[in-house]
Formats: sequence, C-alpha cells, structure tokens
Amino acid sequence: MQIDFSTASLKDVSSDWLIVGLSFVSSEGSGAKVSSLESQLDEVTGGAIGRLRSRGDFKGKLAELMPLYDLPGLKASRVLLVGLGTLTELILPKLQRACAASLRKVAEQASVSVAVALPEGELAGKSKADIIETLTSAAVVAGVSQGMYKQEATRYPIKQLTVLSATSDQLTQAATHGQIIGESINIVRELVNRGPHDIYPATFADRASQLAAEYGISCEVFDEKRLADEKMFSMLGVARGSTQPARMVMLEYKGGNPDQPHIALVGKGVTFDSGGYSLKPTDGMLTMKCDMAGAATALGAIIAAARMNLPVNVRAYLGLVENMVSGNAYKLGEVLTARNGVTIEVCNTDAEGRLVLADVLCYAVDQGAESLVDLATLTGACVIALGEDYVGLFSNNDDLAMHIQTAASEAGELVWRMPMDDSFNDQLKADVADCKNVGTRWGGAITAAKFLEKFVSGKPWAHLDIAGPAYITTGKAYREGGATGVMVKTLVELLAK
Ligand code: BES
Ligand code: MN
Ligand code: ZN
Repeated sequence: MQIDFSTASLKDVSSDWLIVGLSFVSSEGSGAKVSSLESQLDEVTGGAIGRLRSRGDFKGKLAELMPLYDLPGLKASRVLLVGLGTLTELILPKLQRACAASLRKVAEQASVSVAVALPEGELAGKSKADIIETLTSAAVVAGVSQGMYKQEATRYPIKQLTVLSATSDQLTQAATHGQIIGESINIVRELVNRGPHDIYPATFADRASQLAAEYGISCEVFDEKRLADEKMFSMLGVARGSTQPARMVMLEYKGGNPDQPHIALVGKGVTFDSGGYSLKPTDGMLTMKCDMAGAATALGAIIAAARMNLPVNVRAYLGLVENMVSGNAYKLGEVLTARNGVTIEVCNTDAEGRLVLADVLCYAVDQGAESLVDLATLTGACVIALGEDYVGLFSNNDDLAMHIQTAASEAGELVWRMPMDDSFNDQLKADVADCKNVGTRWGGAITAAKFLEKFVSGKPWAHLDIAGPAYITTGKAYREGGATGVMVKTLVELLAK
C-alpha cells in the first residue's frame, strides 16, 4: 500500500473513494455545531450533506456508513461518509472501529485508491500521530479478508491511501509504523486462520524462520531431540499423542545496547487442541486451530519491533505442539517433570497450554530474560469472565502490569488486570506430585496463571490470556469473525517505551 499526504481541498481529490469522517448529530440537533470539514463538504456539494442531515438519513453514529456516488462538485466519483459518534467521546478504540468499517467497505473492490479526511484538530485527546497510525494500520488490515481458502477474493489490498493532512517527519513515521503494525497483524491473522492441516509445529516453525530471514531477525528451531536434551518433558508430554513432532522457535532482535538486558515474549503455540483424552466436544474443538495465537502474536510483535528498529533487545520463544489422542498420548494421572524439576500430576489433558508454557518460560528465564510477557489462548474461564473483547492480564509485578495497561490504552486495545492472590495456589496442591495442572472450576483463569508463576523463578512476568479476543466467533461491522491479531499493537507500544 502506497501512503501519501495531501493538503488538496476536498473538491480536488481524485481518488476512487473519498472517505469523510463526520460526527454524530441527533435528529433534534438541527442547530448542532458540525465540524469545519463537514461544512466544507456541504459547501462544495451544494448542500448535499446538510440535506442528508435534515432528513435524518445520516446521523453520524459510530462506524455508520453511507456511500454516495457522483456527488456534484467533487472529482472523486465515490464518497463514503463514516460516523465518528460524538467527537469528545472518540477514544482510540472507537476511531479504530470507524476506520476499520469504512476501509473494509472500500476494499471490496480491487486496487482502489482512497483519500481520507478526518475533522482536523477536533478529535479530543489524541495526537495526530496516533490518529494516523490507527488509520494506516486499519487500512492494511482491511485489505485482507478472513476467507483465505475461498476461490474468489472478497476484499483486496488497498493500492493507495492518501491522508488529507499536512505532513511532518513525525507523521510520515507514524504512517510507516501503522503500516508495519497492520502487516504484522495480518501475519498473525493468516497463521491463526489457517487450518491445522496447514499449520502444525513443523510448518509454523518453517514460516517463522522464513519471516525471520526476511526481516533480519536471528532464529533457531529446537526439534524434539533438542527439547529432550533441554529436559522440556512437560511440553513433550503434551506433544506425545501427535504424529506431528514438537518444536520450539527462538527469535532474537537486538535493537538495544548489546549489554542491555532483553525482554522475552513467550507464546503458546498449540496448533490444534483436541483436548487429548479429556476430549473436547465438537463445539469446543471447532475453533481450536486458533490455539497457537499466542505464538503467532509473539512472532508478529518481534517482527514489527525489528522493522521499526526499536531500540530494545527482544527475544521471542514459541512453544509449538499439537494436543491429540493416540495410544501414545499422555494420560490422566501421569506425572510430568518440567525443565526446572517441578513434578506435575496431569489431572486434565485439556489443560495443556500451561504445560507447554511451563517449560518454555523456564527456558526463557535460563537464557537471562530480565522480564517476561507470555501470550496464550489459555482458558475458557477467562472468556467467561471478560468476554470476547478484553484480554486478561495477570502479573507478579505491579510495575510491569502498569506498563502493559498503559501500552494497551495507548494502542487502543482492551486489557483488564485480574487478581493473583496466593490463596489460589491451594487448588493446585497434589498428593503424588509437586502440583496438579488444574484447579477447580472456580477462578480457572487465575489458577492457570498461578500455575505458570511456578516457572518464572520470581522474575518480573506478565501473562496475557487472549482466549477471548484472539479469535472471535461473532463478527461485528468493524471486526469480522475469526483471527484478530489482538495485542500486536500493545506489545509494540510496550517495547517502544
Ligand atoms: N485452548 C483452551 C482454552 C480456550 C478456550 C481457548 C476457548 C480459546 C477459546 C485450553 O487449552 C483449554 O482447553 N483450557 C481448559 C482448561 C480446563 C481444562 C482447566 C478450559 O478452559 O476449559
Ligand atoms: Mn486445552
Ligand atoms: Zn489449549
């Protein structure tokens, strides 16, 4: 996608589409103040917008769309009005929705050029750079649909995006960053949307190595033999039931001072979760190709960090397995020994993600990570607690948790911190081993986090349970069903700071 800036007036814009963001005006509010942008559009079109408004045809509700063709007075043959809601309430996630909805509409046709005009200086509390980053990332994401296996495409990459605004070095950089974030989100969406016949540990690892080579990130892949040498028997226990051997991928980007410590991103990469002998019913298993979203997100984030040349040292560790049933599969009552020696009684083979992360977190700690952030579609309980929009945040360190909350709010993503009192540990006590891999039904997302905590040796660590938002079942106007690439932007924001 080509991006440029232009200060041309609305009537002179000659793109295939001209998207104009307009605020909410209630039907009684005929005298309400409209933006200078709206007055300008109204004037050049001979009052067309004012007439729409007074008939109540376009209210300007958030993400409301109205395509208009062949308006008089304009060079652009198509205009798309998009509602921004009340401008003083237009927080970043809302702006993101309006951008996504409108750009998805124009991306229904192949190789279009689009110019976008937003009310200048009238969007409360957001820097121009944030607005442009949001717009450009949404444009890149909008150009790719979820239907990757369809014979006929339903959406196409946007060829050219013109931001109707004056520019500066800072704004050009924001546009580039937005584009990189959008491309990383698309990598995550693609990996997560691909079926389990297509993406399994070996093919995921191949794809990661190929992307790493493309972006100058160093990459190493551990096969099962190496994983056994590294005593990662908790992860290998999960992998045993599958004909697809396990892998761990390690990526390293050194943008900081060579002797500055690194932050580790650890991703759950269960390429398919059948539940194992604690088999999932069909409905629950249906979406379990998405269970590697944590690993895909860690990969997407380190790629974005490298492409932006962020001045930080980052490593990503992806734990890749398939959780299957076979004569060789791990069993209930079996005891696994993790890399750090902790013995785990398997009480539910469907609580496999934590068994994978246990070893990978240990490994990352042993490699000298200063702090760790793991990403995992870990528990249905987290989806019950927070729904499909919020990511659950669990941490042993208030400072790191706060940094993540700030990064999320700057990225316009929704994160909610959950408690981690030690009393939840009681549920994990076992008779035959150091711990069990599951607690009771109650507080299931928290006991999962308490389990992970046993493998980070007290290092500053945060766990992001993305089971809800990583792969959504109910599409919305601004966000279609399937993989979302959630948390890529937040992680980039975190690493940038
Ligand atoms: N991958 C699932 C969690 C999940 C559920 C992700 C829904 C995305 C959407 C995980 O491995 C799992 O099965 N967790 C169990 C844990 C239970 C056995 C303690 C769950 O949530 O039911
Ligand atoms: Mn499971
Ligand atoms: Zn799982």
